[in-house]
Amino acid sequence: MISGTRLLSGGRVLLCCGAFAMFGIDAGAAQVPPRPVIDPAKELAAIKAASDLDDNPADAEAVQTVCTACHSSSQFLSSPRSSSRWEQLFGEMARFGARPTDAQVNQIVRYFQRNLMVVNVNTSPAEELEPTLQTDPAATSAIVMRRAQKKFTGIADLAAIRGVDRAVLELLKDRLQF
Ligand code: HEC
Repeated sequence: MISGTRLLSGGRVLLCCGAFAMFGIDAGAAQVPPRPVIDPAKELAAIKAASDLDDNPADAEAVQTVCTACHSSSQFLSSPRSSSRWEQLFGEMARFGARPTDAQVNQIVRYFQRNLMVVNVNTSPAEELEPTLQTDPAATSAIVMRRAQKKFTGIADLAAIRGVDRAVLELLKDRLQF
């Protein structure tokens, strides 16, 4: 047991110093600044910090695992888009090589719907409104029925629908179009 532990720790030291030395030689020989390193812990913290509207940490983890494999989350955290534009972008990322599992796709879609999707209250389909506004089906259909009669004019108007959470609307206000 003891010799096994020693062997292991000896191996770790070798690995550490070998890698360090190689890094030093490479950087010196190439004379180029090191490539920016993606720090998974920092990325996860940024993704969680940008998610006022999703309290499921597993969603943020899926976004970090899949969407920061090639670049930083700063590529997408400050650029809300409509559903169709996100769909198009996910297609592009898949062509670049993004390979999420089915479970990760669901988590990523939920994260983006809650935190980074722009919806038009008067025109977006119910299935886009519901996850972004975080309404239940009854409130969503009340919105759809009301807008068929009379377009919504703003947050106060929308908040008057039973089942719509005004606190959520306040957090969403930059992503709501009327
Ligand atoms: C396999 C590597 C890879 C993965 C995984 C990946 N991307 Fe990208 N992404 C790229 C590359 C390469 C570019 C740069 C394309 C360019 O500069 O035109 C890019 C650019 C972007 C851009 C900026 C381009 C634009 O049209 O605004 C956004 C936003 C983006 N990625 C979001 C994501 C999201 C969200 C995910 C997770 C679903 C993701 N990426 C996963 C490779 C990847």
